[in-house]
Amino acid sequence: MAVMPVRAWPDPVLSQKAEPIEVVDDEVRRLLADMAETMYRSEGIGLAGPQVGVSRRVVTMDVPGDGEGEPSTGLLYLVNPRVVAREGTCMMTEGCLSFPGLEIDVKRAERVRVEYLDQHGEPHVVDAEGILAVCFQHEIDHLDGIVFTDRLGPVRRRLALRDYDKLRRSAGGR
Ligand code: NI
Repeated sequence: MAVMPVRAWPDPVLSQKAEPIEVVDDEVRRLLADMAETMYRSEGIGLAGPQVGVSRRVVTMDVPGDGEGEPSTGLLYLVNPRVVAREGTCMMTEGCLSFPGLEIDVKRAERVRVEYLDQHGEPHVVDAEGILAVCFQHEIDHLDGIVFTDRLGPVRRRLALRDYDKLRRSAGGR
């Protein structure tokens, strides 16, 4: 396994729509394993292909428990994930490995149903709520070339991108 460099906004790959995976083969499994190692090393809870410069529909997630009885998911490998149903709205503070240091409140669906293939090509259907539902939506957005600041209204988006610019400059212009 290998740690991959994480692409930071405004890298253009983050705005591209990623390609579906045709066959879940060893190459895809290797990519997923490298992404998992990258995610853990970066202390993230989710990572999408475009964030490591791979414009394909793959995601790794490991979402911690909510402290109210909802257990940790453990490591999840998602191939071609999609949201097939959504319900309610919620607002949660989110971060993103492609926007180091930026935290913003984003409005999303409160509950989602997600379909995906795992690393063996087996289909799964998951009903999620809370932080897990938010994480699914955030990562699947990445596959559609949508980043979390795109989910803000125009004024809050401009402020968030200005904050992010300041963070980048204070970090030495990474
Ligand atoms: Ni992200």
